[in-house]
Amino acid sequence: MTKIVYRLYTALLLLGVLPAATAQQFITIATKSNALVYQVNAQKELNTVYFGEKLLNDTDYARVAKEYHQGNEYTGIYNAAYTPSGSKNLLEPAIAVTHADGNTSLDLHYVSHTTTAVTAGVTQTEIVLKDPVYAFEVHLFIKSFFDTDVIEQWTTILHNEKGNVVLGKFASANLYIKGNNDFWLTNYYGEWAREMRPEEVRLTHGVKTLDSKLGTRADLLQAPVFMVSLQKPATEDEGNVLMGGLEWAGNFRTDFEIDPFNNLKIISGINNAASAYRLKKSEVFTTPKFWYTLSGKGKGFASRNIHQWARKHKVLTGEGDRMTLLNNWEATFFDFDEAKLKALIADSKKLGVDLFLLDDGWFGNNHPRNGDNAGLGDWQPNKKKLPNGIATLVQAAKDNHVKFGIWIEPEMVNPASDLYKKHPDWVVKQPGRPEHYFRNQLVLDLANPKVQDFVYGVVDDLFTQNKDLAYIKWDCNAVIFNAYSSYLKDNQQNFYVDYVNGLYKVLKRIRAKYPTTPIMLCSGGGGRVDYGTLEYFTEFWPSDNTDPLERIFLQWEYSYFYPANTLSAHVTDWGKQPIKYRVDVAMMGRLGFDIVVSQLSANDLAFCQKAIATYNGLKPLILQGEQYRLQSPWGNDAASVSYVNQGATEAVVFAYQVSNRHESGTKTPIKLKGLDANASYKVEEINIYPGKKPVVETAVFSGDFLMKVGVNPNVNTTNTSVVLKLAKV
Ligand code: GLA
Repeated sequence: MTKIVYRLYTALLLLGVLPAATAQQFITIATKSNALVYQVNAQKELNTVYFGEKLLNDTDYARVAKEYHQGNEYTGIYNAAYTPSGSKNLLEPAIAVTHADGNTSLDLHYVSHTTTAVTAGVTQTEIVLKDPVYAFEVHLFIKSFFDTDVIEQWTTILHNEKGNVVLGKFASANLYIKGNNDFWLTNYYGEWAREMRPEEVRLTHGVKTLDSKLGTRADLLQAPVFMVSLQKPATEDEGNVLMGGLEWAGNFRTDFEIDPFNNLKIISGINNAASAYRLKKSEVFTTPKFWYTLSGKGKGFASRNIHQWARKHKVLTGEGDRMTLLNNWEATFFDFDEAKLKALIADSKKLGVDLFLLDDGWFGNNHPRNGDNAGLGDWQPNKKKLPNGIATLVQAAKDNHVKFGIWIEPEMVNPASDLYKKHPDWVVKQPGRPEHYFRNQLVLDLANPKVQDFVYGVVDDLFTQNKDLAYIKWDCNAVIFNAYSSYLKDNQQNFYVDYVNGLYKVLKRIRAKYPTTPIMLCSGGGGRVDYGTLEYFTEFWPSDNTDPLERIFLQWEYSYFYPANTLSAHVTDWGKQPIKYRVDVAMMGRLGFDIVVSQLSANDLAFCQKAIATYNGLKPLILQGEQYRLQSPWGNDAASVSYVNQGATEAVVFAYQVSNRHESGTKTPIKLKGLDANASYKVEEINIYPGKKPVVETAVFSGDFLMKVGVNPNVNTTNTSVVLKLAKV
């Protein structure tokens, strides 16, 4: 097919003028830079023949396969688009089933495909695959977000067999990257207050698996996001790198398998561990989405694409504003009463933030929430601490012209609670075995519709009783031990999946009634963040670790995958660094405070007040701009990050000292990125502590100079952070 004919064909297909194109042997999914090409072979099998940078000639995709050693009957290795188990493929499958008659084989043959335009620049391809022997089918969905090079993939699985089919594995996506590469995997591990620790290894032949079996807080120990560099480790601006992650709040599993011909298969989906899913006749099982992007220009380009995609298509109100706030958690912990909170509300106003956020400890009467060992589940205001309920606090906030938000952890229950006593069957626990607690609590069984109603009710009651409630922090502080749902009876293998689907049902209901109210996704830190869940949340809490030095590393790593407007960053007393350093670091995200305002010195308070006003002015840049990671905190004395607006007329540059070594600091300029080389920029230091002189002299530079030579922010062990504002002159 000539290029013109092919283009015309694709255009007609997108317009829906052509029917499912079975005559065409190739199915091409394109983004701005890349192409994913499937081929239907003579046996009607659907194989991946190409995934990489677009070829200049569309006709060349047909030739790609010939250049590689293909899988065959002597190896059991194939490049299936969705690898079935139990037939001729003998490597890691994407799907494994036990049919209603007990047979465990599966073959998937191409039946048809359609491509539809979803919105401008977004197309969705659905490919129907059927088993030629069993009434069993899989639909592959591939959604292309053209401009940002992001693709989402997922599947639906259904059958019409006489009885239940058990799904032993049910991946969302099965990527296949042809050989002739080394593959370098960056994955992230962690624990409480130590999230997102990166490690990079060269993948060797065989299977490497990243997974979680924790049930809730799925990414506490291992993040569901990853990068794979091709050929050699990519840098910020150079190299081929694939970044991706599963959109699922529960157990995930991503397998990376390199076969003997050096092809890489990435199979990602819900973890099948203890989850052989029983699927009824005609029931449709929808796997979560797996997102990914491939960049030929390093990690920076990939992550800016991800940020744009996330803001536009994934995160709730991703292109909207974010509120600054004062949180009372570290200021009071559980020890507060109405008077204390009213004083903090007044402090919120004094500080100049938009909202006061009341944290844990406001509820429980028979089992007062005065510590983390009681009260979860009893969501009535504690009469001793708050004799006039929440309403009086909402009113106090209103009187102070700030908004009011509240903390909840509605999926959880303490054994010391009325709820636990009233509804023991709502609690996830093994009958006949001792209970195991995580932070003195247990998880409620969201597979049970009654529990879903209860959790929805916790939120709905708060909103209906307090119509001015403006913000929620939704926490999740326990993993699932002793997984067992009394609701699911003999169907326990469905539990982990049904739990998360139950959670999403609740979140959907909440969003149907309260579509845009900001809600922070928290999980004792960053134990739960993914793009499936962020569809319902405006921001997330990356870590309880708010030591600003540690935060620089954490925020740096999260920033590869999540845009600044999703990263809640609070100024606290962790780390004891100067207030300027703490505020400068927290400005890299959605700025908040968790300090005792009344104990701030006059200068510290004045600095914070001015910094909040400055931040409000910088919000469009930081929260919606293009982020450039300029100098890594790993291995350097100082780290630096910038945000540049569309059109590159303005930018803000943050530089932070990350070393205490004698005489360490920025001895050389930091090269800026994303500016207009032909423009001139006034570079001015902002966020200066009262009484201090700027350490960077205001001057005008060309964009060319700033990008080729750079500017020295002069951070060192005395001036530990510097913020520069750039404006085109
Ligand atoms: C978790 C959160 C904290 C705080 C406490 C309250 O640990 O991460 O920010 O809300 O719960 O118990």
